[in-house]
Amino acid sequence: MSTPSPDPASGKLWGGRFTGSVNAALHAFQASLPFDMRMWREDITASIAHARMLGATGILSSAESQQLVDGLEALRAEWTHTGLPVNDQEDIHSLVESTLRERVGAVAGKLHTARSRNDQVATDFRLYLRNGCDALDATLQGLQRALLASAELHIDVVMPGFTHLQHAQPVLAAHHLLAYVWMLGRDRERVADARGRLNRLPLGAAALAGTKFPIDREMVARELGFAAVLENSLDAVADRDFAVEFLAACSLVMMHLSRFCEELILWASQEFFWVDLPEEYCTGSSIMPQKKNPDGAELIRGKTGRVFGDLLGMLTMLKGLPLAYNKDLQEDKESAFDALDTTLACLEITTGMVSGMRFRRERALAALAGDMSAATEIADYLAQQGVPFREAHHVSGEIVRAAEAQGKGLAEMTLADMQPFSPLIREDLLPLLSPHAVVAAKTSRGGTAPERVREQLDRARAMVDGE
Ligand code: ARG
Repeated sequence: MSTPSPDPASGKLWGGRFTGSVNAALHAFQASLPFDMRMWREDITASIAHARMLGATGILSSAESQQLVDGLEALRAEWTHTGLPVNDQEDIHSLVESTLRERVGAVAGKLHTARSRNDQVATDFRLYLRNGCDALDATLQGLQRALLASAELHIDVVMPGFTHLQHAQPVLAAHHLLAYVWMLGRDRERVADARGRLNRLPLGAAALAGTKFPIDREMVARELGFAAVLENSLDAVADRDFAVEFLAACSLVMMHLSRFCEELILWASQEFFWVDLPEEYCTGSSIMPQKKNPDGAELIRGKTGRVFGDLLGMLTMLKGLPLAYNKDLQEDKESAFDALDTTLACLEITTGMVSGMRFRRERALAALAGDMSAATEIADYLAQQGVPFREAHHVSGEIVRAAEAQGKGLAEMTLADMQPFSPLIREDLLPLLSPHAVVAAKTSRGGTAPERVREQLDRARAMVDGE
């Protein structure tokens, strides 16, 4: 650990006040290039905007500004082609500046006028996550579309709806799938919300206090597509609320995916056997030849914990930091990148699973045979005739008990079986107890009756397409 590094500190952006060398282990320990290199495009884009502004304000001559812009554009073209060079610069900002110096010479040293890595990294990171928000939105929409298509395909599938994982009342499978379309709609709102608040410019805050140079922050904001300029230089370099919000939005997406995947895993099990998951999203067992395991869904459920961890890590990293910049803030990137990569991958896998998933209509319906999920219908039937609901509920409960004692499902009970419990029970109750009738009766807005679900599909489609 303590071997002195041969690497002279003077090779760094900040080498002037150091005489000796940086410990090699510390250099490796504090370097962020291995993970912040993915922000190289944002670093160059923001540097080009900064260089243009330095020229426009007369802080640099227009020739110098143009040299910097040309050099940075050439670098962008080159790296787009070749990828990034592997080297031991400490971060992406150092790599861009030192490579620019190799290309355009000493003028590269003027790029950092009126700028610090503190406002630079905050700017790059916001630009990167802004793209991340756009990618998330598109991917969320893709999954919504797959769910809509599946809801349409399975519009006639009736299955038990649950509370407490006990049969509650039958619902349409399409209704169940649409529930997720609305959840993902809220996720998209949250992503858009996070995007709105992160789309403000830190650049120009310099290290923490602003700068004496007559910079034009509004110009840089316009060039980079930021909607506003952050008003306080200390806040600009110290704030990572936007990253927390981004991670919170990812966490909620993952929580939704995890709940859905848990359901897919249950539905695909032999106990339920309601859905057939696409083979290409399952794997087999090395010992049990019959296995078709829902690995995709399980892994998404598992990765949810990891994204929650990214959020908690970020909050914990921030909670004790005095203003303004502290090196701790460098820990913001890996968790945000991990959450973005993980959430995008999980959304894509879920979309594939949903597109290929088929309900086994007969099995889903058969799950209702012999159950008591029509009990609320009996209570509603009596309540409609003026019996107070509480009393009607009691009568229906007694009928459930009798059915259980006879080993029958509610729909199999005869008039003679039920009439002893209430003189108001007549022949017309019997057809109301079949699963399809129970579903058809739920005609309230947002309910599971087929015509309501069709309306809901139309509304969901309009919501997904932003109409
Ligand atoms: N790699 C650093 C980060 O990610 C860049 C900012 C460095 N600033 C500094 N004062 N050391 O936060």
